[in-house]
Order: sequence, then structure tokens, then C-alpha cells
Amino acid sequence: MSTSTKTDPTIFIIFGGTGDLNSRKIAPALYNLFLDGWMPKQFSIIGTGRTKLTDEQFRENLHNDINQFSRSGKADDKKWADFVKNIYYQVSDATDAETYKEFGKRIDKHNAEWKTKANVLFYLAVAPNFFPIIASNISKAKLAEDKKRVRIIIEKPFGHDLETAKELNQLLSSIFDECQIYRIDHYLGKETVQNIMAFRFANSIMEPLWNRNYIEHVQISVTEQLGVEERGDYYDGSGAMRDMIQNHLLQLLCHIAMEPPVSFSADEVRDRKVDVLKAMRRFTPEDVRNSAVRGQYGSGWMKGKEVPGYREEPKVNPESNTETFAAIKFFVDNWRWQGVPFYLRTGKRMHQSSSVITIQFKDVPHLIFPTEAAESWQQNRLIISIQPEMSIRLQVQAKRPGIDMVLNVVDMVFDYKGTYTNQAPEAYETLILDTMMGDQTLFMRGDQVEAAWDLVMPILSTWQNKKSLNFPNYSADSWGPEAAEALIARDGFNWFTLPVNGKKH
Ligand code: BG6
Repeated sequence: MSTSTKTDPTIFIIFGGTGDLNSRKIAPALYNLFLDGWMPKQFSIIGTGRTKLTDEQFRENLHNDINQFSRSGKADDKKWADFVKNIYYQVSDATDAETYKEFGKRIDKHNAEWKTKANVLFYLAVAPNFFPIIASNISKAKLAEDKKRVRIIIEKPFGHDLETAKELNQLLSSIFDECQIYRIDHYLGKETVQNIMAFRFANSIMEPLWNRNYIEHVQISVTEQLGVEERGDYYDGSGAMRDMIQNHLLQLLCHIAMEPPVSFSADEVRDRKVDVLKAMRRFTPEDVRNSAVRGQYGSGWMKGKEVPGYREEPKVNPESNTETFAAIKFFVDNWRWQGVPFYLRTGKRMHQSSSVITIQFKDVPHLIFPTEAAESWQQNRLIISIQPEMSIRLQVQAKRPGIDMVLNVVDMVFDYKGTYTNQAPEAYETLILDTMMGDQTLFMRGDQVEAAWDLVMPILSTWQNKKSLNFPNYSADSWGPEAAEALIARDGFNWFTLPVNGKKH
């Protein structure tokens, strides 16, 4: 098996080792990095959690997980045997100082065996209430002192609101330097999301059009067919705004709206994104009423199966006021975007699972064609499809072949499937590799997280202060509440959805 010389010897300590995130995402990502030759020659993965397991049992569990969830399918016996030698398990109580002494011993042992000082990556794949205690215990055990080699990876949610995010940032920065802190927003690792920067800043034809003179409005829509599943306890205290908009959707918006960075260095890119968040118009309670819609799904049928409403889901308060859908109209108050609305929409139990950014350009200044030639007239649109389809399409008008002059809309398409044969890495592979390489470009900096919270807080507090009386207000397998259609229709637009498998909706 080939190994990488680009990555230094690394010890991963995964808190939440027996958890769902490790099973579905982290372990398969590490295995695929190993298959693709990105893992260093010397590495060790130490899963940790309260469940009592031997190394052997933990390895067996991960083997099953990888067989089930890895994009490369079932693990090959020989490759698995090479990989599994590097996996260990430590039963632990994250709140107990002894746990960290044990990690210290393991780190020393590997360093002695490998005759080097390895990178140590503490991966916190646990509930957020454990973040402070784990970080403090790492510090007390003096495991965070090597600023160059020790890193901490924090999963979302990063704070529950602005205040708690600030507290967590303060605590982390009292222990770690910012360059040691990797706050994950897995959307930033998605291939198609990374490509937005390439598309905008590696092509000269985009920039002249990329502003209020040519762009009429932008839509960012991330809809999911899934409900809350087993995550009711977390989700009921969170909701669509905290779970999706504060992080993933606002980051997508930043990719579209940011100014060109001077270079591709982590801080340059993140500075430009913070600029966008700071330029976004803050909401008054009246703006919340006019420009923000919340929804909660009721029961219904999906793919021929009856599904419960949100309030009937396990571990959800039967009178819950938590939103499972949100649609918001934002503005970015700067020279480039003044007056251009950005409509963001996300929801669970929606008709389609898709993440799509649509940029609609202004209309032609004067129509020279007769009305009958232009019956299917549509303004130009650039559609960046993040998932499940991975594509960028530019919709333009063209003459339909024939004697008459008849126009219709055609797509100029860049489709990953048709263009590349290699499989795109999963977001977690990219992000974990970056943590090994010490590249923070795709991670949230402390001030970015706070700026995003600062923006959404007025909406959250208005919603919290006023219970929604019409919940549930959309049924499963729909496109969300009617008010969300009205929000965009008032401005003369409608939500755009990419047909899935050629099927129009
Ligand atoms: C997570 C949210 O961050 O993102 C989930 O907590 C959501 O509620 C998920 O389902 C969506 O991610 P993806 O990659 O499936 O679009």
C-alpha cells in the first residue's frame, strides 16, 4: 500500500469512537485516504468512548461500518489487514483526568516506536456539551502544548447561539492557538462547493458579470427528503435555522458573494468570507415578519410509505415549536450586491433531496423577437448543483432548428459524471486530509462562526418569542409552507428546482 510523504506521522484520538459519525463518515474517510495513499507511513487511530470494547471488537465494528458506508464498497481483505493494524480502542470517561494521562502514555509510546514526534489530532465527534470539558482536560494533561503538532477538530454545532459560541471560542483560545483549531462545516469539503471558488476565480469571464449590474437574484436551496430520524433530542433544541442556515447555507452564500481573495491562503479566503457576513443586512423584528418564513412538517406519504409528522417523531416534544423548514431573504449591503436579494431555503421531509444554487441574470434590455418566437422566454440562469447531481449549467436562449424563428431555453452543461472518470472524494476525506496537512482554508475560523451567529440571532429570538400558531404547516413530500412560495413570488420570482433524473416537478 502506498503512503504519503506529504502527511507527517499522525495519531488520531477520536472521542465518540463508537458513535454514528465515526461509523458513517470518519472511519470510512480514513480508510479511503489510506486506499488512495494519503495516510502517512506511521499513523494510529485511537477510538475512545464509554462503551467497553477490546481493540479487536472495535476493529470488527469499524470493519462492518466501512463495508457498509465506504464509497469504495466492501474492504478488500489484504488492504483491510494493513489498515487495521493501526487501530486501537481506549475505554474512557471524557470527564476523568486519568483518561488523558492514558492518552499521554499512548502518544509517548508511538513517538518512541516511530522515533519521531507525531502530529496529534483530537477529534471531538461528541455532543457539544462535552467540547469544553474535553478541551480543558487536554490542557490540564499538558497534551496541547506543542502548537505545531497538536490540533483539535470540532464538529458542529459550534455554540447554540452567539453567546455560547463566544464562550466556546474563548475557552478554546485560552488553550489552543487559532491555527490548532479546526471547526468543521462539512459542506466546505464537498467537491462541488470547493469548485465554486475555482469557477469564479480561475475564469476571467465570470467576474465582469458577477455583480448587481447583471445578477437579478440568487437562490440557495438545500432540501432533504429525510426527516429528523433518530436525532430528535438534538434537533428539537436546534431547528433548521441553527442546523443548516447558520452554517452550511451561509457558507454557500459566502462562496457566491465574496470578493476575490488576494491568494488562496486560509486567512485570505476566510477574511473575504467574513467580509460578506459583516455586510449582510441585520433583521429588525419587522423584517423577520416580512422576509423570514418558518415551517414544520406534518405527516404524509413519502415514496409510498406513511411517515409521521415532526411532532410525532421519537424524542421530539409533541408540542414542539421547532422549525424544520426555513426560507429567508437576505441582502448583502456592499457595492457589489446592493439590492440583489439572496433567497435561502432549507427543509426536511421535502419533495426532493437536492442542494442547488441558482443565479438569475437580468433580462435583456430590449426584446427584438416577436412575442410568438419567445413564448418560453426565460432570463439567463447559472445553476450550480451541489448534490445529488454534480454539475454547473448555464441556461441560455437558442433558436430551435426549423424554418421559423422560435426560441427556447437550452443548457450548456459541465457535468462531473460526463467529464471525469474518477470518483470524487467524500467531504470528510478532504477535510481530514487538510487537518493532517495543517490547511485551514476549508474550516471555520472563530470570527466567522460568530459573525454568522450575529446575523441569525435576531431571527432566532423573534421566532423564539413568538410561537408559531400554524405548525405543522407543510406536509411531508411537499415543497414547504405556502408562505415560502409567497416570499419569493412577491418579488416576481419562483423557487427553482433541478429536475431529478430528467423528471420535471
Ligand atoms: C448536517 C445536519 O450538518 O447536515 C443534518 O445536522 C443534515 O440535519 C445534514 O441532514 C445534511 O448534510 P448533507 O451532506 O447530507 O447535505
